[in-house]
Amino acid sequence: MPGIDSGYLTEENSMQLPSLKFGDLVARIPIIQGGMGVGVSLSGLASAVANEGGVGVIATAMIGMKDPNRKKDPVGADSRILTDEIRKAHENMTDGLLGVNIMCALTNFKELVTTAIAEQVDIIFSGAGLPLDLPQYLKEVSNDLKEKVRTKLVPIVSSGRAANILCRKWLSKFDYLPDGFVVEGPRAGGHLGFKPEQLNDPAFSLEKIVADVIQAVKPYAEKAQRQIPVIAAGGVYTGGDIAKFLRMGAAGVQMGTRFVATHECDADIAFKKAFVDARREDVTIIKSPVGLPGRALKNSFLEDVSRGKRSPRKCVFKCLRSCDEQKAPYCIAQALLNAYKGKLKNGFVFAGANAYLVDKIVSVRELFNSLKEEFDTFWYKEDPR
Ligand SMILES: Cc1cc2nc3c(=O)[nH]c(=O)nc-3n(C[C@H](O)[C@H](O)[C@H](O)COP(=O)(O)O)c2cc1C
Repeated sequence: MPGIDSGYLTEENSMQLPSLKFGDLVARIPIIQGGMGVGVSLSGLASAVANEGGVGVIATAMIGMKDPNRKKDPVGADSRILTDEIRKAHENMTDGLLGVNIMCALTNFKELVTTAIAEQVDIIFSGAGLPLDLPQYLKEVSNDLKEKVRTKLVPIVSSGRAANILCRKWLSKFDYLPDGFVVEGPRAGGHLGFKPEQLNDPAFSLEKIVADVIQAVKPYAEKAQRQIPVIAAGGVYTGGDIAKFLRMGAAGVQMGTRFVATHECDADIAFKKAFVDARREDVTIIKSPVGLPGRALKNSFLEDVSRGKRSPRKCVFKCLRSCDEQKAPYCIAQALLNAYKGKLKNGFVFAGANAYLVDKIVSVRELFNSLKEEFDTFWYKEDPR
């Protein structure tokens, strides 16, 4: 069974979801909840996912939004609230692993990384650019703390080429290999690491790029005699999808959209209901003010933007390096913050390509149970052996 080294048959002769290993850290269930900013995945969702045996992830984009001093001191506020959220999640966790999602494009990337490491999170997931200096920060914090820290470093990439560059550069500069890769394909929600014309091109399908990344990391893993787990993300929706990617050799999956429609998701109920109400034709691609395409749900705010009705405003959040205040038609941080609070007239929601399939809000436990059942059924029905 390719990619399955810890799956086994139970007494009932059913295939159980295998565990997911990042070196010495093990999640019982190979499901990572994708980090979702602004405020969509905080300690509430992350600890609920961890308690089901998966990897819960706190997103750091604009995490300090509730701090009254954020406008004056954005870097300090984000680090303070990140510390609080990690501690809250740890207090509520009895199982699983805790990760933090820190996009390279954030202006305070380094400060958030050092805060997360000092708070002993299990894993840092980092995309929206190549996190070339991540191992350097790990070394610096270990030296400051005078102890080896446990945090694993898992970049999010969209091609085998990016995975190869990171392995090569981290090895030569820091003698460090990534502890895993999340491979995010063109059907994901949020900002996408593709050109618009690549989004529907089969040459960039998730199946294709997962296979490319597995091939790219193989020589590094073999030489170092260790596993580099590859995780598939973007459009993974059912237990059947999970089985498909594990069979291909992925070690696990990362899912975002499904976790939005859970009671434990940290966003306002109106945000979740937008997913439940979404029709296929509502899922759209926008050109985000940060210069990347993004997948979102159509609404009156985005229509106003496309008609040129929204005007730029002075940047108060200083969140993303790649955002050009002069050219941006609106402030994406403010729009996503409004959506998080349920004020959808003045904001919009990011969503994956399958968001229109969501028909109800469930608990994280119910979601895990249905995914496990579907995995089990699908594994036997479609197993090509
Ligand atoms: C509402 C929303 C917000 C997101 N925010 C982030 C983010 O802050 N950082 C990031 O790396 N990915 C972000 N993503 C991507 C997810 O982490 C995940 O990889 C992706 O949604 C997986 O695809 P799926 O939604 O089809 O499961 C976001 C996705 C959604 C739906």
